[in-house]
Amino acid sequence: MDDLRDFLEVLKNQGKLRVVNNADWDLEIGTINELMAERQGPGLIFDNIKGYPQGFRVVTNLMHHRVGQKLAFGFPEEMSDLECVANWKDKLNKFTPIPPVEVTDGPIKQNVLTKDDIDIYKIPTPKWHTLDGGRYIGTGVITITRDPDTGWVNFGTYRVMIQDKTTLSFYVSPGKHANIMREKYWAKNKSCPVAMCFGQDMLLFGISTLPLPWGMSEYDLAGYIKGKGIEVIVDEETGLPIPATAEIVACGFSPPPEEDSRSEGPFGEWQGYYATGKLSEPVVHVRTLYHRDNPILFGQPPVKPPVNTWFPIPIHSASYLWNRLEKSGMMDIKGVYVHGPGNRVIAVISLKQRYLGHAKQVATLAGAFLQGGACTGRYIITVDDDIDPSNFDEVMWAVCTRCDPEKYIDIVPGFLTSPLDPILNPDKRERENYTTAKVFINACRPYHWKDKFPPVNTAGPELKKSILKKWKDLFENVSLPTNHIITR
Ligand SMILES: Cc1cc2nc3c(=O)[nH]c(=O)nc-3n(C[C@H](O)[C@H](O)[C@H](O)COP(=O)(O)O)c2cc1C
Repeated sequence: MDDLRDFLEVLKNQGKLRVVNNADWDLEIGTINELMAERQGPGLIFDNIKGYPQGFRVVTNLMHHRVGQKLAFGFPEEMSDLECVANWKDKLNKFTPIPPVEVTDGPIKQNVLTKDDIDIYKIPTPKWHTLDGGRYIGTGVITITRDPDTGWVNFGTYRVMIQDKTTLSFYVSPGKHANIMREKYWAKNKSCPVAMCFGQDMLLFGISTLPLPWGMSEYDLAGYIKGKGIEVIVDEETGLPIPATAEIVACGFSPPPEEDSRSEGPFGEWQGYYATGKLSEPVVHVRTLYHRDNPILFGQPPVKPPVNTWFPIPIHSASYLWNRLEKSGMMDIKGVYVHGPGNRVIAVISLKQRYLGHAKQVATLAGAFLQGGACTGRYIITVDDDIDPSNFDEVMWAVCTRCDPEKYIDIVPGFLTSPLDPILNPDKRERENYTTAKVFINACRPYHWKDKFPPVNTAGPELKKSILKKWKDLFENVSLPTNHIITR
């Protein structure tokens, strides 16, 4: 699969894509998407959108469910959630960069618009949520920037709102790579070159949302996963490499905010609120608008939790945390998973306790590693290795039965959050004090008397196995929930 169209073809052949005709860009597409995402329904491709020619399409609800995520990242359908997290962790450990391949032509060059021909409203961009401050063309976007010092090319997903027919604004949280890069240009009173892709190979989108370390190229990682370099075309004015098979790309320059910045937001965000309200944000003046014939805008607008706005399987958070814990020398980590809004807020680490303080050491490190996003990693829970960290009910059972709240819950203030955090009180927000406390819950059996802890009242694995074998007919077509591996 090399582009969005290949991806849609696979979904269509599996009966997991539905065509919707005659919807209105103004709240109708957004609400249909929300209703379908809540129902874990199929992907949606909107055509004949009100006021737009046939063929100018919007596609949504591709990544709110496991089917889309597994397809994009190449995980086999039968793989459990925790196995996917472990698989992604292992892939990252073996990462060897495969750089992009420069080509001179590709489908994205079917229409190249400059100067007076640029009109971003040509793309049927939805107003997704009732209180959105504008039409957000960038919800499933990849935004490409280059570090002026090293030449390293980054891409990340940061929301993009249309300001006028040649101007876009982009909200990038503090600490994100594009934020750091653009500030470097502005410090020298230069405009930052930017390319924004609004529909592309789903692997590129997936990778765009991952917290790769500073200096690691998303293009190189995508090439490594595919086993071949991603084909890119270099945009003449900005010099930035854009995917040759993308659907829609806007290239231009972001001037220092003192020169131009505009009112952005509110936007229905991933925690389920409009928390940032209206802010003044940097803009991009578009110099070239590329699009394929009959372009498809990819939309991944947030939907109120528990719908997953990010990924249902937290490879964007859990795999990285697991990796970092192991690399920092923590022994006997059996599994890491992250639950809650965006699968970013409640981290669970399952471990075999080897020494006094082991669980606390792991938890405090996890708290430090999981930072940098709105309320990311606010709760860190450690559990024994008999608990499947991806099974939230089981984790809660451990919290309710193994954690003495008087002794094993710590609340530590002062970690970085972001303006998107809904619990920031108005005073803190006014002072731009974007910090949060973190809660550490040790739900492992207390180390010093763990051997005296009451035994668990479940049949052991051997007994279960033999009973299942003997009573095979009884259990025919009666299976455990598919997301979880039960190893006990
Ligand atoms: C659908 C979606 C929308 C996102 N929107 C934003 C956003 O508007 N601003 C932001 O700073 N991060 C946003 N993120 C998170 C970033 O994409 C993510 O942190 C990514 O790692 C950033 O890339 P970077 O590490 O290269 O900066 C979003 C993630 C997803 C999945």
